[in-house]
Amino acid sequence: MVPLELGSWDQFGVYLIGAGWLELAIGSLSLYTEECIHFSPIHIDKNTVRKIAIAGNWKMHKTQAEALEFLKVFLPQLQETPEDRDVILCAPFTTLAALSKNLHGSRVQVGAQNIHWEESGAYTGEVSGPMLVETGVRYVVVGHSERRQYFGETDETVNQRLQAAQAHGLIPILCVGESKQQRDADETETVILQQLDKGLIGIDQTHLIIAYEPIWAIGTGETCDSSEANRVISLIRRQLTNPDVTIQYGGSVKPDNIDEIMAQPEIDGALVGGASLAGEDFARLVNYSTASK
Ligand code: PGA
Repeated sequence: MVPLELGSWDQFGVYLIGAGWLELAIGSLSLYTEECIHFSPIHIDKNTVRKIAIAGNWKMHKTQAEALEFLKVFLPQLQETPEDRDVILCAPFTTLAALSKNLHGSRVQVGAQNIHWEESGAYTGEVSGPMLVETGVRYVVVGHSERRQYFGETDETVNQRLQAAQAHGLIPILCVGESKQQRDADETETVILQQLDKGLIGIDQTHLIIAYEPIWAIGTGETCDSSEANRVISLIRRQLTNPDVTIQYGGSVKPDNIDEIMAQPEIDGALVGGASLAGEDFARLVNYSTASK
């Protein structure tokens, strides 16, 4: 076999490369560079380090029949949903079993909206970890501002519920956020840091999602400016022992602002109330575009 010759040595010991080979070498170099340009953002991108999670919070909406109607519209629109994101539906207790059954084999996971810290007992109206696990639940929202505001949830009970969730293998979504009054009084940081300090005592930060939900932006149509949400979320992240915790933004997330929100470097997902109720809208959120990144 004739050895492949790229060029030849001249009398000064310099290796001369033929023009054709040079072109080929430059070509493959640019190909290599293009590959790098194409692939390098994936390595440094937030997506590979921190998981993205788009979660619907149905609150006290939908009967079982309505939940199944939703799935008929929603599921077919997930064919092209990128693999980089987890899709979660946090539904009322009465629809959890039906959802789990109908979502089996799909990429959508089921979440509950509350959990009691005891496994069983005289706690009228509450639901425990084993009960949720039996229905196929994987996630649970804890400390939502509506529970803090209307049902007397405190940082202490939030912490107990978080511990119970993790003890049963569920991933809690801890909600934190300030009221309008607290924001106006410049107390945003203090309030959130206290919620985190007390809420996270004894919590494993590798099985946790945090949702930053400014109360004044929930259900009001008044979204927190995405750069401000990004700022508060980076502040939250600095409080954590695990910087890779997924931190969502929540509060009037809609099809027309999701792309901008998700383009923020610190925001790893969304917790969505109103816009998760229509299959069409929630599919648009889950299929948010990263084109603007
Ligand atoms: P919203 O609710 O999207 O309707 O503002 C968010 C939430 O409460 O989690």
